[in-house]
Amino acid sequence: MIHDPKLELHLHLEGAAPPAFIRQLGDEKGIRLDGVFDSDGAYSYSDFKGFLDVYEAATRVLQSPEDFARLTTSVLEQSREQGVIYTEVFISPDFCGGRDLGAWRDYLAAIQEAAAAVDGIEMRGVVTCIRHFGPDAARETAKCAVETAGDFITGFGMGGNEGLYRAADFAPAFAMAGEAGLGLTSHAGEFGGPASVRETLDHLNVSRVGHGVRAIEDVDLMRRLADEGVHLEVCPGSNVVLGVYANIDAHPIDIIMKTGVPICVSTDDPPFFHTTLPQEYAALNRAFGWDAGQFRKINRMAAEAAFCDAATRADII
Ligand code: ADE
Ligand code: ZN
Repeated sequence: MIHDPKLELHLHLEGAAPPAFIRQLGDEKGIRLDGVFDSDGAYSYSDFKGFLDVYEAATRVLQSPEDFARLTTSVLEQSREQGVIYTEVFISPDFCGGRDLGAWRDYLAAIQEAAAAVDGIEMRGVVTCIRHFGPDAARETAKCAVETAGDFITGFGMGGNEGLYRAADFAPAFAMAGEAGLGLTSHAGEFGGPASVRETLDHLNVSRVGHGVRAIEDVDLMRRLADEGVHLEVCPGSNVVLGVYANIDAHPIDIIMKTGVPICVSTDDPPFFHTTLPQEYAALNRAFGWDAGQFRKINRMAAEAAFCDAATRADII
């Protein structure tokens, strides 16, 4: 079960940086990272806002295309080690040259070259705006996505603090990305309730929702997700560590699965949540008895929802 090929659709590039990687870069550049690590060297935060702050503080050491190339190599090698054959990675131009299109092209070229050099795992990039940076920044990010859309950049998404702004505020950014043919996904229904997911569907035209788990609180919304085939990128370990659910047994993933809403299992920001994809699978096996057949079904659903061309889909299904 743990050794079967896996697909991952929800992984943040910076969020996948191990603490040792960030500390090493900080040392090389003489950048102090006060408050980022606890006494054991793990990322240190106590709630979602603290998590976002530490996440952004850690990205301060990622200052060049070369840094992102090193990060990409490290992240893909880790994923490959865990049996991942296809991964979609959220990449934020905010952290890659501050949304400047020329700089973004340089960062992206380095990331793409690094990804191509890691055999045995296929990567696609989902250009991701950060909700709490606001709608204007999101539009600039969408411009970066549109200008670099192609074989590697195949999607546009949004992460960040779901409590700020309304989904409709980001409609221009998502419309621009959608018109360029990019697949669309947005975080919603993680800390926000069903209304946040509904607004995201109404205004952002997404085919996938990041997390989306709190949709389970609304039967009509679950029916809509199933009818429209909207795919939920579920990250159980992330939800437990960030306190959305008390523990894996209280997580609704098994119920969601039974409603017919398509889902995948992902890790979000694995070192922040002390997890890996095989650990997520093992926890789901323990909590809900999910077996190899169930994981194969999950990975088939992921392949169907992936932002890739038909030939790649046929390869990974
Ligand atoms: N960015 C990275 N991880 C995130 C999460 N779990 N929710 C919102 N934004 C994020
Ligand atoms: Zn996420």
